[in-house]
Amino acid sequence: MSNRRKIITPEIAARVEELLAKMTLEEKIGQLNQVGPTPVGGVDLTLAEWKRMLDAGKITRAEYDKAVAGIPMDAQEDDVRAGRIGSFLVLKGAEKCNRMQRIAVEESRLGIPLLLGLDVVHGLRTIFPIPLAEACSWNEEVFENSAAIAAKEAVATGLNWTFAPMVDIARDARWGRIAEGAGEDPLLTSRFAAAKVRGFQGPDLSAPDRIAACAKHFAAYGAAIGGRDYNSADISLQTLHEVYLPPFEAASDAGAATFMGAFNDINGVPCTTNPYLYKDILRGAWGFDGMVVSDASAVAEVVAHGTAADRGDAAAQSLAAGMDMDMGCRCYIENLADRLQRGEISLQQIDDAVRHVLGVKFALGLFEHPYVDPTLADRLYLCAEHRAAARDAARRSMVLLKNDGLLPLAPDAKLLVVGGLAAERGEMLGTWAAMGRGEDTACLLDGLDARGVQYEYLPCYTVNHENHTIGEFDPAGLAEAIAKADFVIAALGETRNMSGEASSLCEIGLAGGQDALVAALAAAGKPFAAVLFNGRPLAIPHVDAAANAVLEAWHLGTEAGHAICDVLFGDHNPGGRLTVTFPHHTGECPRYYNHVSTGRPAGEIRHSCKYMDAPITPLYPFGHGLSYTEFAYENLTVREENGMVTAQVTVRNTGARAAEETVQLYVHDRVARRARPVRELKAFAKVWLEPGEEKRVELTFARSALGYYDTAMHFIVEPGDFDIWAGHDSTADLHAVLTVK
Ligand code: NOJ
Repeated sequence: MSNRRKIITPEIAARVEELLAKMTLEEKIGQLNQVGPTPVGGVDLTLAEWKRMLDAGKITRAEYDKAVAGIPMDAQEDDVRAGRIGSFLVLKGAEKCNRMQRIAVEESRLGIPLLLGLDVVHGLRTIFPIPLAEACSWNEEVFENSAAIAAKEAVATGLNWTFAPMVDIARDARWGRIAEGAGEDPLLTSRFAAAKVRGFQGPDLSAPDRIAACAKHFAAYGAAIGGRDYNSADISLQTLHEVYLPPFEAASDAGAATFMGAFNDINGVPCTTNPYLYKDILRGAWGFDGMVVSDASAVAEVVAHGTAADRGDAAAQSLAAGMDMDMGCRCYIENLADRLQRGEISLQQIDDAVRHVLGVKFALGLFEHPYVDPTLADRLYLCAEHRAAARDAARRSMVLLKNDGLLPLAPDAKLLVVGGLAAERGEMLGTWAAMGRGEDTACLLDGLDARGVQYEYLPCYTVNHENHTIGEFDPAGLAEAIAKADFVIAALGETRNMSGEASSLCEIGLAGGQDALVAALAAAGKPFAAVLFNGRPLAIPHVDAAANAVLEAWHLGTEAGHAICDVLFGDHNPGGRLTVTFPHHTGECPRYYNHVSTGRPAGEIRHSCKYMDAPITPLYPFGHGLSYTEFAYENLTVREENGMVTAQVTVRNTGARAAEETVQLYVHDRVARRARPVRELKAFAKVWLEPGEEKRVELTFARSALGYYDTAMHFIVEPGDFDIWAGHDSTADLHAVLTVK
């Protein structure tokens, strides 16, 4: 049962009613209208892309001409003055935002402030690790703190709303947007979702340094068939509720002020027009009292889905479904009055949507403090405190995937660095880097320079800055350089544009000349460590086989290079754990640890659930991550009383370095009416252990977490035996049985 932290107090509700009573129909519909610079949302388009949009009929000739002439589409001051705009997408800069806000507050009839939103996903100017990376810290304080800092910097640029967190479960590494969320696990993503909402919104949403969060994309966007962005999701209701919805429920419970609808359809019904999502689940079951916005142009796209006859029909269906605000396609402002007159929608429906929008504006305190202090940015952007937090988050986000003892590196050995990504500052920022800049960012070479480490560097492949692709292998000088070095660091992976929105891939190996570089290093036989920069799991068995060490560094943001060196040279003990499974081959996708039991589980026998040409186990399992020390587990006990399950396990640091371990607890329901996942994460805990030290670690979770939806969609917790495992990752073999009465 959900327990939402409400944002609408009785006082706010009364103020909303008072204001609503004064509004004309045009002003009401204006509140539901969000405008932005491009029809695809907060993304800057190239000229060629604008042309393609025009050719595809996605924009009008007038919009094209405006864009090409460089006329900002956000200069819609008259519309703001007339109360025809409720929100802007992608206005940036305190001066610009204050100017628009002033027109809304001081020159419009009712003085209603604007919601000013942007994708502040992992930082505004100080960029933190991409969400998939940060999730690997399994650290809710880190999740919350980076969001709080992002909120402060966002306020400094005039914003009051972020389109984050993205809490879509992603099980398919081909899907580019896997980078934007916390990975494949519902529990971890739920913790991430709640922490992000707390971080952005704080204990009091109306505080001037907080912004409204937006849980997106509601729902099951990550279930896009084949991992192809914007594709349909065809999933059972049980999977929707058990896998994809829990993080959204957690975000709602934490008080997320807004939700964003997803682009995709679920079982044929576009999320934009799906009343089951907004009415039955979000407001009905979860008690949500915030506001729902569509994704960019998603209302108009209902026509392309083929479930609305035209833009007016799409607008009417969306509003009726509970979609409060139209992002960027003017379907509401152009059609709702007409559809009201035709009787297709009711005034009550319009009023309800306006109530939700106004409620968020009051809850944010915008009527009390609509403007921002223009001097804040200079003081806050990239300040020492923010940089230190970004470095700390980056250190904790890295995952040591393999290490035969090469790492940590000896500081005085002769080092060769290869791979163009080692010198790329901008690429370290990852997808959705808001106002992040390459020039503020440390790449791997900057990190080495800052420590005074001597090294030789050869790019061996280049990164094309125009289109962010990776070039061919250039072996010039490599053999000689390898001969002189004691060991090699190879920077491998993806550019920032190879993951994120509209960046699905049908091959998730290494692009360009990187495979040839790996082959050359393997042939040379010199010890080498691969440092990976990427926004998704990569299928890289050849790297695992050839390298002595593999460090997953993702796209770590502003402080990337420094943080990586902290780990490479042993100042920080790597403690990240994967929140996504790494397959050997792209063809294994979707590959995830918590799949349900089949009648023929994968095994050595031929007629079992597997590929003939791929190993049964993944390259790196969920939860995996090495350390510079080792941990031993023993004596697992588990009991259930008063609705809570409590497990205890002894964890010992058997190595020579103090370190933090992430203790993971997995469950499997032995006999159920529907096939259940082979393992599901139910709890985790962080424990700090000195060398040789051992601790008894307690992990608890609610008995209800053992439940599931039966075939008639009733949520049940069945008595019976459950397997419990505790350990270092999802392959943990320390086992106990819990008998639930
Ligand atoms: C489209 C993306 O799907 C969404 O995540 C984003 O918030 C909007 N564009 C606005 O930029």
